[in-house]
Formats: sequence, C-alpha cells, structure tokens
Amino acid sequence: MNILVIGGGGREHAVIKTLKKSRDCGKIWCLPGNGGIAADAECVPVKATDIEGIAAFASEKKPDFAVVTPDDPLCMGLVDRLESLGIPCFGPRANAAIIEGSKVFSKNLMKKYGIPTAESRVFTDADEALAYLKTHAYPAVVKADGLALGKGAIIVNSYAEAEKAIRGMMVEKVFGESGSRVLVEEFLTGPEVSVLSFTDGETVVPMVSSMDHKRAQTGDRGLNTGGMGTVAPNPYYTEEIAARCMKEIFLPTVNAMKKEGRPFRGCLYFGLMLTPEGPKVIEYNCRFGDPETQVVLPLLQSDLLKIMMACRNGTLAEAEVKFSSGAACCVVLASEGYPQKYDTGYEISLPETGEGEEIFVAGARLSEGKLLTSGGRVLGAVAVAPTLKEAVERAYALSDKIAFANAYKRADIGGRALAALGE
Ligand code: AMP
Ligand code: GLY
Repeated sequence: MNILVIGGGGREHAVIKTLKKSRDCGKIWCLPGNGGIAADAECVPVKATDIEGIAAFASEKKPDFAVVTPDDPLCMGLVDRLESLGIPCFGPRANAAIIEGSKVFSKNLMKKYGIPTAESRVFTDADEALAYLKTHAYPAVVKADGLALGKGAIIVNSYAEAEKAIRGMMVEKVFGESGSRVLVEEFLTGPEVSVLSFTDGETVVPMVSSMDHKRAQTGDRGLNTGGMGTVAPNPYYTEEIAARCMKEIFLPTVNAMKKEGRPFRGCLYFGLMLTPEGPKVIEYNCRFGDPETQVVLPLLQSDLLKIMMACRNGTLAEAEVKFSSGAACCVVLASEGYPQKYDTGYEISLPETGEGEEIFVAGARLSEGKLLTSGGRVLGAVAVAPTLKEAVERAYALSDKIAFANAYKRADIGGRALAALGE
C-alpha cells in the first residue's frame, strides 16, 4: 500500500518509521516532511495546511491510505476533503477534531456527559471575564478557546496577571480569533499523564501511558514549549488508575462523541491530571502528541498500519494492539532560545544508532547534502530499554553524540518519573 503522511515534525518521523515496519507498507510520501524524514520517505514541499494543494497531490498520486497527524489540517477538514476523493484516512473528520479545536466545545461535552474535568466559565467579553476574575481564587487558569500552538493556557497567580492574560487574548488578540472566547478555569494539582488512544468511534484502545516535560528549562523552569522530552510508561499511571480512566473518561468520551453525531476515528489524546479527587481531563487532542509519539510508538509491537486501517474501518475490536513491557525516553535537542527567538542553519552531525535507539528529526532541512537546523525543536534522541532508568541513560548517551552549534536540551528528562519509582 502506498501511503500519504501529512506533517513534518518528529512525531511524523516516528509514525513513518513505525509504518515502514509493516509488511503491507509500500511507498510513503510525506507532505511537507523535513530533511531528516527525507531518509525514510519522499518529501514534497506542500504545507500541511494547504488543503487544496494536498488534495491535488492526492488526486494525482492516488495513495491507498492517508495519515493526517497535525491539529491544523484536521480541524480544517483535510480528512473530509481526502475522503471526498475516495482516499481512506487515519484521523478524525473536522466535526470530531473540534474536540481539540474548541476548548469551549470540549468543556461543554464533558459537562453534558459527566466526564471529570476542572470547573470553568466561558467569556466572550473581556470586562465580564475581568469582573469574574476579581473574586476568583488564585492560581487560576486562563485559556483561549481555539488552537494556539500549545501556548493558549496561562496559569495566573494574581488578578494583575489575569488581567494581562485576558487583555492579551481578548483585546490584543495575540492568538488571533482563537482568543475571542476564553475559559477561566479552576487550578488543579497532581501529576500529569498523557494517554494516547486508538479509536474507531466505538472501541477505544489506550496506548502505553507517557509523561511530557513542557517547560523549556531543567527543573521545570522557563516558558511552556511544545515538549522538551518524554518518557513511557508514566509511573504515576497505575493499573487501578487506568481502569478508572477507562470507565470514567475514555469510554464516556468516545460514546459522547458518537451520540453527538461526531464519531471520532483516529488517535484521541487524553491529557490527564491525577488530582486528589481522581483523574480529570486537562485537555483533549485530536491527534498523536509530539513528543509523546516518539516514546509510545517504539514500544508498539503490533502492526501500526493494520491498527490505523482498523480505526478507519470500524474493526478495532478485532485488531491486535500490543506494547512491550519495556520503557522509552526521548530527549529533545532544541535550538538555544526556543520557544522564543533562536537562530537556525547550523550543520547537524548525526551518529550511527544502535539497537533500541532512534533519532526522530523535527526541525531540519537538507542543503547540498548537509542536514541543517531549521526549527526550534530540532530532533529527539530516543532509546528503548527494559527499564526506565536504562532508557533515560541511553537516550542521554545518544543525545551526547549529536552535535550542532546552538544545541540545547534539558538535563532532567525522566527525573521525576525515576523519583516516583524510587530510583
Ligand atoms: P493545555 O493547553 O490545556 O494543555 O494546558 C497546558 C498546560 O497547562 C497543561 O499541560 C497543564 O500543565 C497546565 N494546565 C492546564 N489547565 C490546568 C488546570 N486547570 N490546572 C492546572 N494546570 C493546568
Ligand atoms: N506534547 C503535547 C502535545 O502534543 O500537545
């Protein structure tokens, strides 16, 4: 089968490398891909948000299957468009991708179906939001309704900070129309867990759990980023909690979407917080997480292409979805300065990878045969091992062999997880 993959980050590199393990996998095109993905797929410079450009490419090449992983094209209806051309897809249609595209939608869904989440109120008027925040407890969380590159949630510690956040979102429109509606949310506490799941709209199969490290600097300091590293499994996510999440969150969400006439087919990502009152939903994503995918897929022992097709065909209940009992760690190498200003264009030297090691490239381009940095998050050094401790050590050892001029990484990916295991 010839496959079209949309996107161009480390997550897509991990998806492509995993798809290539399938016996049924033929040619892979990646739009737009990147300089590292080019070693594993034919990259074509069409942007992931260029819906008509992608449709034209697909009409010409007629792929047997398409995999859409970034949030923007999913919310813009790329899956609907490709399906209209008769191309089967992995990924939700726009009417289901809204579970990530609108936090007001997902909050209302959770309220209507009794799915545990933080208390919140929606505002379309800045003055009303500010009047409400005058008497609110702190910290509080102010969130833009729409997509905001993972930066749309701001934790505020005082009314003054809240005012700044509200003015930025609703008056200065720093996130564009995504901030026309905002949510003011109760601040929850507890360990965070990411659970990616496969679903065909009826059956939901959680993947191995993971833990992201969102802050830019070692010690959970600095600004929020797309993610500076991940480990899997997440030691806080015990079997007992997993069973409770299935009953209280995963199945109710999939059933709610079906009931609303918005069956979700693809990867549904549950961002959870394990609060003293039990697990609660912090956010839904309509896609694989980045860099969660880089630690989850290397632990998958079953055929990813078969699973993705089962999600599309409504046969997930019969599909084999098995994960290894080992652990994985991904250390992201970023350009110094990310997530703010940074320089690019530096040559990257990549080492050979050994058994259980992977390098997933995110922000790099090829120029005259050389791999040059081109983004904030440049790549992820990943290792799989029988224990989390070994996986973390090996991922760092691998990352130490990768060099580019302004490379920056956190020194403590996996630290909290190992501490939770008492190691
Ligand atoms: P989101 O964009 O909704 O994923 O939020 C980004 C990050 O902000 C999450 O990963 C949490 O660390 C934090 N966060 C979001 N909502 C809350 C909340 N209600 N209470 C505490 N922290 C939160
Ligand atoms: N790593 C978090 C996300 O993909 O949204």
